[in-house]
Amino acid sequence: MGAFDSPVLHTPRLRLRPLREGDEAALLAIFGDARVMRYWSTPPWQGLEQARALVANDAAAMAAGEALRLGLEPADGGAIVGTCTLFAFAASSRRAEMGYNLAFDAWGAGLMTEALEALLAHGFGALGLNRVEADIDPRNEASARLLGRLGFAREGLLRERWIVAGEKSDSALYGLLRADWQARRRG
Ligand SMILES: CC(C)(COP(=O)(O)OP(=O)(O)OC[C@H]1O[C@@H](n2cnc3c(N)ncnc32)[C@H](O)[C@@H]1OP(=O)(O)O)[C@@H](O)C(=O)NCCC(=O)NCCS
Repeated sequence: MGAFDSPVLHTPRLRLRPLREGDEAALLAIFGDARVMRYWSTPPWQGLEQARALVANDAAAMAAGEALRLGLEPADGGAIVGTCTLFAFAASSRRAEMGYNLAFDAWGAGLMTEALEALLAHGFGALGLNRVEADIDPRNEASARLLGRLGFAREGLLRERWIVAGEKSDSALYGLLRADWQARRRG
């Protein structure tokens, strides 16, 4: 799984594309919102510097084939409303982890379901993955429902795996196999 070729994925309502300079304010609106970051692996961002660092780090990680993060841009234009990522690639096992977040005002409209269907199609298709994993806080009900809609199976619970701003939290581990994905598409 070498370097990624800056993919752009299209869905009915979204254009999924790599982050770029100019996205910083929209990123801060997402990653700086305590409601969005409630179950994230870091506290909410404090300022634009963290947004600038994400854009710069993403470009390097994508060039190195280490992570693929795409911003969710409305198909009819405007600022990005979320991000979705494949990361922690294990090349010989053809496995990666998936992460995602959506601006609070965009919740409840099916946008992330739409985005992740496209990201997973790219992962199991062009990237040749065999397994995609997600690690979520078991209290994160919206995220658990999202993974369920996409066909992920809950496979286990790791206790007190994270400590974020002094708060310990568990990880519910979810997995989706290429075979699950293909069966769902046929079904
Ligand atoms: C996880 C997260 C992306 C889920 O957002 P979401 O809005 O529930 O997910 P979707 O965009 O797929 O929308 C699905 C919801 O919209 C509804 N919906 C409306 N129109 C829809 C459509 N056309 N298609 C699918 N769902 C639709 C669904 O019923 C569903 O609501 P429900 O779960 O209450 O039944 C969001 O809660 C979030 O960003 N959380 C913070 C970040 C986070 O915790 N990430 C996970 C850790 S990696």
